[in-house]
Amino acid sequence: MNLAFLDRPLVSIDTDITIVFLTDTLLDDASDYKVLTQAGFKAKQDQLCLLHEKGVLYCGIEKLNRDSLRSAATVVVRSLKNSNYKSAKTGQYFLKNTKALVEGFMLGYYSFDVYKSKNEASSFKELFISAENFDAAMLDANESKTIIDASKTVSEATNYVRSLVNTIPNDITPPSLALIAQDLADKNNLTCHILDENALEAESMNAMLAVGRASVHQPRLIHISYKPKNPLHVISLVGKGLTYDSGGLSLKSPTSMVSMKMDKAGACAVLGIVKAVSELKLPIEVHGFIGAAENMVGGNAYKPDDVLTAKNGTTIEVRNTDAEGRLVLADTLAYAQQEVNADFLFDYATLTGACMVALGPYTVGMMGHSHTLKHQFSQIAAPSGELLASLPFNTHLKKLLKSEIADISNVGSKPYGGAITAGMFLDNFINEEMKQKWMHFDIAGPAYSETPWDCHPYGATGIGVRFTIEWMHSLLNADKT
Ligand code: BES
Ligand code: ZN
Ligand code: ZN
Repeated sequence: MNLAFLDRPLVSIDTDITIVFLTDTLLDDASDYKVLTQAGFKAKQDQLCLLHEKGVLYCGIEKLNRDSLRSAATVVVRSLKNSNYKSAKTGQYFLKNTKALVEGFMLGYYSFDVYKSKNEASSFKELFISAENFDAAMLDANESKTIIDASKTVSEATNYVRSLVNTIPNDITPPSLALIAQDLADKNNLTCHILDENALEAESMNAMLAVGRASVHQPRLIHISYKPKNPLHVISLVGKGLTYDSGGLSLKSPTSMVSMKMDKAGACAVLGIVKAVSELKLPIEVHGFIGAAENMVGGNAYKPDDVLTAKNGTTIEVRNTDAEGRLVLADTLAYAQQEVNADFLFDYATLTGACMVALGPYTVGMMGHSHTLKHQFSQIAAPSGELLASLPFNTHLKKLLKSEIADISNVGSKPYGGAITAGMFLDNFINEEMKQKWMHFDIAGPAYSETPWDCHPYGATGIGVRFTIEWMHSLLNADKT
């Protein structure tokens, strides 16, 4: 589907369908009030009413705000995708809501069909957003276009992440994920450096190597970077790239294992963010570091009882091979800090089921030492369209990581607070001078869902791109003031 802005009033745009969003108060004044009420349309959130003869598709919105419009735009675009209409147009609903409108259309249109043998292409191909506001005022064309173009870029990057995460573990392995990163680098003029198992050994990344040892697909570390001239900031992003997490010898149950292709969602989010930043041409140098490995079983698998020496020299007692993400991240975080002296260091990981227990399946758990960063991320969450909540570190939970035989254990000794103990485990691999610059995002909950919600279909959501880009925009805005 092609979505484009047109600096023209709605009447002068020729399409099959006109999309109109209505609140219940707007419904009272609508020209089609009578026929709409006859049809039972009450302008309830996401309620659709198609007046085919008139070529108008109405959709209810609870309030005239971002969340209502994003959700309604999703419902609208899905119904058009399933129709035989070819094109549609819509006005805007105040500039402040235009980004959410575009997200609803772009993210709502997405579906993942590459493994379907019969692929029915939709006839719906063209969607125009006019400069006209719903109240007939003409909005600023430059501002409209800037918002629409940027939102399209971010949504496309989000859909790119979704497709990578949805791709099956037979098709994305650590070496093939490295090729995908290389391909992105080639297309977007980025640099990409790949470390294979020998290079990882030379870098003493033994925790990561242990996790991937039983797989026939050996681990890779991917370093992809976007380096604009005269950057205002340097940011390192680290992603957990478990192309499959069987749990290893601490094998997952059959039901928990299903969907574990999504354990690479952190890595894919990093690729998506780098893609978006480079296409938006933001004046920020961004380094993506991905620890890619496959957690499998085999005669040479790492074991509960093993002690691993991570890159930074910390010794780790393995008590559960299913807590593998933190082992991969330990080495990847250490490598990222060795390679780049960044202003900020963020990691993205489907790290713990406990985070989902704590916050529910829709919310990212954010952890770190900097109250300023946590505050900034809470502030930009709502405008970004993604949900974030802070989980606080504390010394009592930290003690649960104590090991009798090594420096630390890879799992907490008690079953509660698992998302926080995982975050505090990672803290052992953050250098002193980086403590206040680091944030850990546990995306286990919102990365993947078998129940569609908001603008997300079955499967991967592409979480991480929107909130990170929103934060980067707020960082650049703060530079200006
Ligand atoms: N990849 C999982 C976490 C996960 C679980 C993500 C469910 C998405 C949905 C991670 O590697 C894992 O298995 N974590 C364990 C940690 C435990 C062994 C301390 C978990 O959450 O059960
Ligand atoms: Zn695991
Ligand atoms: Zn995992």
